[in-house]
This record gives sequence, C-alpha cells and structure tokens, in this order.
Amino acid sequence: MNDHLQPHDEDWVAYFVGRGHSDPQPLAAGVEGAVYRLGNGVVAKVWSGRGRTLDALSLIRQVYADIRRHPLPFATPQILATEEHNGTLVTYERELPGAPLRDDAGNPPPARRLPAYETDALLTVLRGLASVPGSSAMRRLTVRGDDRPLWEGHTRFPDALAALLLRAVHRNGGALEASVPGLAGLLERTTQALHALPTPPVAALHGDLVPSNIHVDEAGRPVAVLDFGFFTTAGDPAFEAAVTAAIWDMYGPDAERHTAELTSLFATSLGHEEEVLTLYQAAYAMATYDLFGPDESDGHFRWCAALLNRALSGH
Ligand SMILES: Nc1ncnc2c1ncn2[C@@H]1O[C@H](COP(=O)(O)OP(=O)(O)O)[C@@H](O)[C@H]1O
Ligand SMILES: [Mg+2]
Repeated sequence: MNDHLQPHDEDWVAYFVGRGHSDPQPLAAGVEGAVYRLGNGVVAKVWSGRGRTLDALSLIRQVYADIRRHPLPFATPQILATEEHNGTLVTYERELPGAPLRDDAGNPPPARRLPAYETDALLTVLRGLASVPGSSAMRRLTVRGDDRPLWEGHTRFPDALAALLLRAVHRNGGALEASVPGLAGLLERTTQALHALPTPPVAALHGDLVPSNIHVDEAGRPVAVLDFGFFTTAGDPAFEAAVTAAIWDMYGPDAERHTAELTSLFATSLGHEEEVLTLYQAAYAMATYDLFGPDESDGHFRWCAALLNRALSGH
C-alpha cells in the first residue's frame, strides 16, 4: 500500500463494533476511502471523499441488482444497506471472492508478455458484461465529472458519447489544447465519426476495468468484478473493450505495447473493428482527461494527452 492512501481509522472500527460486528478488520484502503471485513460474508465500504450522494448510491445499488439478474461466470457487487454516519456514507456489501489481479500500485508489475491467464480473464469479463443488457437505471447514471446522465436527451450511445465529449472539452479544454495542438480538429473528427457509427447493441458498461477491480482465484480465473461507477453506464460493448485495452496498463514500461496487443486481441476475439476501438479510446481520453487534475501536472491528464497526440499522428 502507498503511504498516500487513506489509513484505516480506529474510529470506524469502533463504529462497526458499536453496530454489533464483533471483529471488524481493515480489508483495503483506496485513495478515497476504506473497506472493512465485518464477518459473515459482509464488508463495509466507507465513502469518505468520493463525492457520492445517497441518491447516487441507491442508483448504483439498482444497477448492481440489474446486473445480478443475469447469470455471469463471476460475482458482481451487491449493496445490502446504505447509511450515513457523521456526514459520511457507508455501504454494506456482500464480500466478493478472490483477490485483486494486481493492486493499484501495479504490484506485481505487468509482465512484458501478458500471460494467457490474464488475457483469458479479460476476455471472460468482457464477454460476460457484454451479455448483460443495458437497463434504464444504467442509462440514468452520470459518468464522473459530468453534469447530467449520459443518455439524457439521446437514444444512441455514440451520440450520447459525442455530446459528452463536447461538455468535457468545454471544462478544461484550454489546458488540453496546450498539450495537444490540433485538439479542435481531432474533437471535430471524433464526434463526426461517433455520429456516423451504426447503432450498436446496448450492454452494461463497467468503464474502469483496471487490474485492482477484477478479483481472481488462485488459478488466476476471474471470480469477481467490482468498483463500478467511475464510467459506468449502458452502451456499446466495443467501448468497454477499447477502454480496457487502453487502461489495463497505463503507466508500466510496456504500457503502449500492452494497449496495442489488447486492442488487436479484442478486435479479433470479440469481433470489434479496430478503428472503432481506437475511436473509442480517443473519446475516453477526451471525456476523462481532467478528472484527477485540470492540467499537465496530473498523471492521468498527461496519459490522455499522450494518447490523443498518438491519435493525431496516426499511430
Ligand atoms: N465487496 C467486496 N468484497 C471483497 N473485497 C472488496 C469488496 N469491495 C472492495 N473490496 C476490496 O477493496 C478494494 C478497494 O475497493 P474498491 O471498491 O475497488 O474501491 P476504490 O478502488 O474506489 O478504492 C478492491 O480492490 C477490493 O480488493
Ligand atoms: Mg477499485
């Protein structure tokens, strides 16, 4: 664990003891909150600093219920109860099996050649989520940083995404343009290409399939997918595949190679067109570049700018 992560708080342990859980144990600390194991297959998630509201959590609870209605070869989250303590939201959730494929710090670091168990796990997860139909609760979700539900006023995912890009670039586009000369033209071409896409199927999209959000068992098989919400919505399974290929290894020494390898694997194995995947990758960068910091000083911003500069230079 990095030392900038939020430490577990004895006060929270005492709080859960007071709620009748005899031996709460810290399970994981994220950048914005912490997870405690309460026993009897239940964990508590403390949402400090995540900027969620009770309404947003009850919507994601509904989305989780919609996903769980469809049989999947891996577990997905279930929120059992939600409460507020001293202004901080807490959810009680089923404990999911397995352990993160890698932690957020990238441990162990991704191998130069991604092992077969890892690419197989990704294909299983992508195929599974693509089989879950998009629901009306999913369409009501707002992606991180945006000011309205993604689908509001739209009937097609690519059109909703194109409108999101315009809003997102409007937020801090000046800073992005400084790092990506030619941004305006790329935005124009990207939104036009999105509008020109044929109407895709509408499935559940996780939107943040990074190694820490996929739990595997000891044999490396995916047994749970968790932490929906960052870019969760209903939409084109090709978007999920594209984003996963881009974000699976963002900062490792072989990140670009892994993105190229996964993009080509997902095109071949899942039947997506490679140009559509790269189009969606550029769209993701334009939709999320400023979500962790508004300028070049932030790592995610620089990662998005580099992806867009590669899109502009055609490789
Ligand atoms: N329901 C759960 N069961 C088991 N482990 C969990 C559960 N929820 C979270 N965790 C663990 O805690 C880590 C952080 O939780 P997560 O929901 O991914 O939050 P964030 O990444 O936003 O901090 C996860 O990678 C996972 O290993
Ligand atoms: Mg996570």
